[in-house]
Amino acid sequence: MESSSVFRNPFRPGAGHTPPYLAGRKEERREFLKLLNQDVILSNLILTGLRGVGKTVLLDTFKPLAVQKGWLWVGADLSESTTVDEERLATRILTDVALATSNFVYDRREMRRPGFGHQVDLFNATLNYPTLHAVYEQAGGLVADQLKAALTFVWQALRASPNPPRGIVFAYDEAQNMADHAKKDEYPLSVMLDVFQSIQRQGAPFLLALTGLPTLFPKLVEARTYSERMFRVVFLNRLDPPDVREAIVKPIQEDGCPITFTEESIRQIEEHSGGYPYFVQFICHEAFDVFVSQVTTGSDNPSVPIEEITAKLDSDFFAGRWSRVTDRQRDLLYVVSRLDDPESEFSVQEIVELSRELPVKRFSPSHASQILSALINSGIVFKNRYGKYSFAVPLLGDFIRRQYPAELQPELIDERSR
Ligand SMILES: Nc1ncnc2c1ncn2[C@@H]1O[C@H](COP(=O)(O)OP(=O)(O)O)[C@@H](O)[C@H]1O
Ligand SMILES: [Mg+2]
Repeated sequence: MESSSVFRNPFRPGAGHTPPYLAGRKEERREFLKLLNQDVILSNLILTGLRGVGKTVLLDTFKPLAVQKGWLWVGADLSESTTVDEERLATRILTDVALATSNFVYDRREMRRPGFGHQVDLFNATLNYPTLHAVYEQAGGLVADQLKAALTFVWQALRASPNPPRGIVFAYDEAQNMADHAKKDEYPLSVMLDVFQSIQRQGAPFLLALTGLPTLFPKLVEARTYSERMFRVVFLNRLDPPDVREAIVKPIQEDGCPITFTEESIRQIEEHSGGYPYFVQFICHEAFDVFVSQVTTGSDNPSVPIEEITAKLDSDFFAGRWSRVTDRQRDLLYVVSRLDDPESEFSVQEIVELSRELPVKRFSPSHASQILSALINSGIVFKNRYGKYSFAVPLLGDFIRRQYPAELQPELIDERSR
């Protein structure tokens, strides 16, 4: 077989796909290690940032770090919000815990202490789901009380086991999907916060590590104001320039790789990806295939067809989102894309002012706010705790500007408002 067919395209554009080389993120890893060093848990982790910035894969790399330091790791992906009611949240947490603890044998005599009664004798001596569930059921009262009882039991049993772990990390991805539902009288988010706050105060080393979109932290603070003090928020940004370069070149510096990217190509990928990990993987994945075929056909000067790749990215990543946006919402997003730095924060005021100078129908402040709320609901925009807005999709500004090339702007928009 030819050698080039052996070296597969190493790049991995796709949600949660481990990259061939995880660039940067050293500071974030240090932050996590600091949290693992706590004797009493005072701070929990929130890992937040836009879609595609690398939250899921970074959280994955935290697992071996924690395990190495003697922690158990319990985790789940909350994208399919299984936590709509309190009871299901409790079941979810206990099943997750049981997966990590079911091989722990605890000493029943040790557990027969005031507060646990004699019922403990009825359980088998392993920390499996039936045991946890029985403790939960016997505790009675509110879901929060039952869950606290079960988790406290877990910790006391682990501590009494021959090889007690350092603690348990509860890692929940896409945690922005959790919510309280006042109408249904279900408060799973608040229950989770109350339970962890309470058991941590009693000394259980159970650390929460939540990841999610930037709506996550404001949501937690809204549910329980003490969340503000309970979490260390780590905001993942685009990669720093040297890290972008490593993300591009390291994967193709491996033995047997049939190509190298030219300096010119690397610079193009750096620029067009904006340093966002998903875009780096996407562009490199395409560029790799093109380079291989150019090299195979004997081209001496292979290059990245950046316009074609950008067009593919537009249709794969942006177009679906854009097609769900109404004309008037597009006008507003267009105005935002014309701000000096649309990738940073913006305000209603800035939109209103700039709309006067652009070929769109003007926006009143209340109308602009109303449209922004709709865009928040469809996940295009988010609002931070200080009332400023940002795009929830990386590099959306560039995409929008590509939809409205400068020379076409007046015609496009006049035509629609006629
Ligand atoms: N530090 C990194 N270096 C290189 N590629 C990365 C890095 N972080 C993430 N990626 C890549 O970016 C893409 C998105 O990562 P993911 O963790 O799914 O993002 P998020 O969970 O924030 O939406 C994946 O293709 C992944 O391989
Ligand atoms: Mg993710």
